[in-house]
Amino acid sequence: MLKRLKDGGGGNALAEPLRVVSRNGDCAAHLPPVDILLVDDREDKLLALEAILDPLRHNLVKAQSGSEALQRLLRQEFAVILLDVSMPEMDGFETAALIRQRPNSEATPIIFVTAHSTSDHEISRGYSLGAVDYILSPIVPEFLRTKVSVFVDLYRKTEQLRRSQQEILNLNVELQQRLSALTEINRELESFNYSISHDLRAPLRSMQSFAEAIREDPDSHLSTESLDFLSRIIRSGRYMDNLLHDLLAYSRLARAELVNTHVDLDSALKEVLAQLHKDIEDKHAKIEIRQPLGRVRGNLPTLKQVLANLIGNALKFVDASKAPHLKIHSEKDGAFLRIWILDNGIGIAPEHHQKIFGLFERLHNGSIYPGTGVGLAIVRKGVERMGGAVGLESKLGRGSRFWVQLPEVVMPQLEAQVNEPALSIVGHTA
Ligand SMILES: Nc1ncnc2c1ncn2[C@@H]1O[C@H](COP(=O)(O)OP(=O)(O)O)[C@@H](O)[C@H]1O
Ligand SMILES: [Mg+2]
Repeated sequence: MLKRLKDGGGGNALAEPLRVVSRNGDCAAHLPPVDILLVDDREDKLLALEAILDPLRHNLVKAQSGSEALQRLLRQEFAVILLDVSMPEMDGFETAALIRQRPNSEATPIIFVTAHSTSDHEISRGYSLGAVDYILSPIVPEFLRTKVSVFVDLYRKTEQLRRSQQEILNLNVELQQRLSALTEINRELESFNYSISHDLRAPLRSMQSFAEAIREDPDSHLSTESLDFLSRIIRSGRYMDNLLHDLLAYSRLARAELVNTHVDLDSALKEVLAQLHKDIEDKHAKIEIRQPLGRVRGNLPTLKQVLANLIGNALKFVDASKAPHLKIHSEKDGAFLRIWILDNGIGIAPEHHQKIFGLFERLHNGSIYPGTGVGLAIVRKGVERMGGAVGLESKLGRGSRFWVQLPEVVMPQLEAQVNEPALSIVGHTA
């Protein structure tokens, strides 16, 4: 900023304008000049002010009366106004009062220029009319320049702030526009996805049934090779049907109006395990559940689908030499309840932890671990739509710990009755 002046200044301002001037010009050299309004009925005093302030290299605009000053203020904005107190017709105080009434100058700093003889009463009147500072004449040039520079600096900072705020507003508008464009694209994609999955399944089913009919027809006299081809067609058809089924479930979830209610996790899990009963039996799986799991806010069908997909994966991605062993429990996390599903499976390397929640992302060969790669995408979409989160902790070969977090529902009357947590075991108990 302005360099401290060695010369104390003082005396006749006109006699020494340039001698005391710092040509520093942090502000003068790099920043654009600002407009300063000088108001005095006497031409000689205006010239004196001009001479003192000239080294600061701002635009100095002169007005010889209060009304001329007001006219100037109508046309442009000023960083600071230097206002003579004693003027004929409209004095400095009256002018200041009118300046303050105008919206575009209500906050412009006003420095009153007044004689040493000014009474305290007058000074306080000036402050009440919006003066921010006084400078007594005869003017000490250095003082005036320093005062003016402080206000100019403030003005620039305020302007900068205003510009930044405007930029933020503009960016916000742009962001909103992009967001609505993206939402629209997303909506179109989802409805496209829905109709594709829906309309493709019907012809696929008829292809599959005709292939099965040919294979089963004793009169078709097909060679072993042709029968093998037919079986492959049927298998691929089944895979494609599963894929479309999952895609349909995904797009239904994305489009549906989800109504969240109170969900009792223990009964939701019971229903899910009943659905997976055959898989659990076939794989000799053991599932330990630490109950009660609690209650959350969510959508029951979606939550069941989420749990079924996670437990289905935990049962599936296990080394063939082992029986699946799952542990399910829940824990409080602030206003949320976190449900954990732990498995003794093949694990997932940390670099894939995010990726596997994407549509069609699979890490394993379909012939060993069949699947469509849609299950975890459904999990993520469903959990997000219920206002929760999902994640996992896992290392390759060390099992996986998937968690789902949803807003907890606390029911005081139930809490009071809660017994000690109990372990229940589903499936293979040995
Ligand atoms: N519990 C798990 N243990 C090991 N890998 C898993 C587990 N759950 C998911 N994965 C990996 O994440 C991928 C995506 O899972 P998902 O979307 O359910 O697809 P899918 O089960 O159809 O293969 C899986 O193919 C698998 O590679
Ligand atoms: Mg899956």
